[in-house]
Amino acid sequence: MDRTSCTIRQTVLTDAAALVRFRAQIVRQTEFMLKGAEDPQGSLLEQAQWVERFAAHPTSMQCCAVTAHGVIVGLGSITGGEFLRNRHVGTLSVGVLQSHWRRGLGQALVQTCVDWARVNRLMIKLNLQVHASNGSARQLYAKLGFEVEGILRREAKLGNNYDDLIAMGLWLRRRDECAGSAPG
Ligand SMILES: CC(C)(COP(=O)(O)OP(=O)(O)OC[C@H]1O[C@@H](n2cnc3c(N)ncnc32)[C@H](O)[C@@H]1OP(=O)(O)O)[C@@H](O)C(=O)NCCC(=O)NCCS
Repeated sequence: MDRTSCTIRQTVLTDAAALVRFRAQIVRQTEFMLKGAEDPQGSLLEQAQWVERFAAHPTSMQCCAVTAHGVIVGLGSITGGEFLRNRHVGTLSVGVLQSHWRRGLGQALVQTCVDWARVNRLMIKLNLQVHASNGSARQLYAKLGFEVEGILRREAKLGNNYDDLIAMGLWLRRRDECAGSAPG
């Protein structure tokens, strides 16, 4: 099975139950999400509210990878800034169930987010934070053009140890399109 067996699309309200199941699984499969299995997971109502928030906010979106049987096996999102002064920047997040790793889904989800942000005239930049020891995700982001912007020392806990978080960013526009700002 490759990524073409899955559909990538934006999440809708009727995905709430599948999103609860997806989140319950993924937090048990990776240490590299900041919200872990030990943290409270969103209820059905909360998942539905999140879907609505992603759809309603001008610089936020959430997309999923769905199998032919309707199972959500991957999720990508952009959370746009809350205020007028930072809504031009969105924070990217991605996760794929272990059973579906290395089939191109992670890349397809991130690319879908980037393509969406590029045509959103309010946005100029995507950012993210990734664990220093998360080699797969760092390679994925670098492949799609994200650049390292800084290192947050011992910002995340991994078991009994600490890990650095690497801040990465992707500029969505050319310098002359970002009125008053100076990327690079
Ligand atoms: C990181 C993650 C999203 C990658 O998803 P995926 O569907 O397996 O990735 P893809 O098959 O689309 O791979 C795309 C690129 O990512 C990189 N990559 C993915 N897995 C990799 C691995 N095990 N080792 C090295 N590079 C890897 C490669 O650059 C790859 O491109 P290539 O196939 O040309 O080598 C997935 O491993 C995951 O969900 N991990 C747990 C959650 C997580 O870490 N999320 C990111 C938090 S910041």
